[in-house]
Amino acid sequence: MNHNIILIGYMGSGKSTVAKELHIKTGVEIIDTDKMLVKEQGRSINEIFQTDGEAAFRKLETELLRRLSEGESNYILSTGGGMPVREENRAILKSLGTVFFLKADTDTILERVKEDTQRPLLQGTDQRAKITAMLKERTPMYELAADHVIETDGKTVEEVVSEILCLARK
Ligand code: S3P
Repeated sequence: MNHNIILIGYMGSGKSTVAKELHIKTGVEIIDTDKMLVKEQGRSINEIFQTDGEAAFRKLETELLRRLSEGESNYILSTGGGMPVREENRAILKSLGTVFFLKADTDTILERVKEDTQRPLLQGTDQRAKITAMLKERTPMYELAADHVIETDGKTVEEVVSEILCLARK
């Protein structure tokens, strides 16, 4: 049985911020899949998408999860927003620990990502339409992957973290 805390959710749903606060509260280390891939590849997410394409990035994500599933340890896993889209990834995420879906609506997400230049899937015009369409497509997959759905709209990071810790300790 693995007791890692796994954070999933759309871009800008607060996974990195919540992971940092969880780390402060618990002292447990954070593994951030995007950061790990950037480090291992020696290039940014934008560069990976531009040079090799999204499919190649998705393959790297799955390979990373497979490697994580071979080791056992105590960590908070902050995942890229597309991680739960693949069925294989959803199964691995579940096997790695307790999965928390940080749910946020389009307005909350738009506010957080509107100035962002590091997320290839959100560049260009009409961010709102892109986010709305992707949320519609992905939300069922996030829900399938999740053990717990955490509604984050209008909540502070501290409130979200308290909910997660309360559920994780049960
Ligand atoms: C993606 C989310 C990003 C990153 C990549 C693709 C997605 O991570 O993995 O740009 O498909 O939702 P964040 O959710 O940390 O922004």
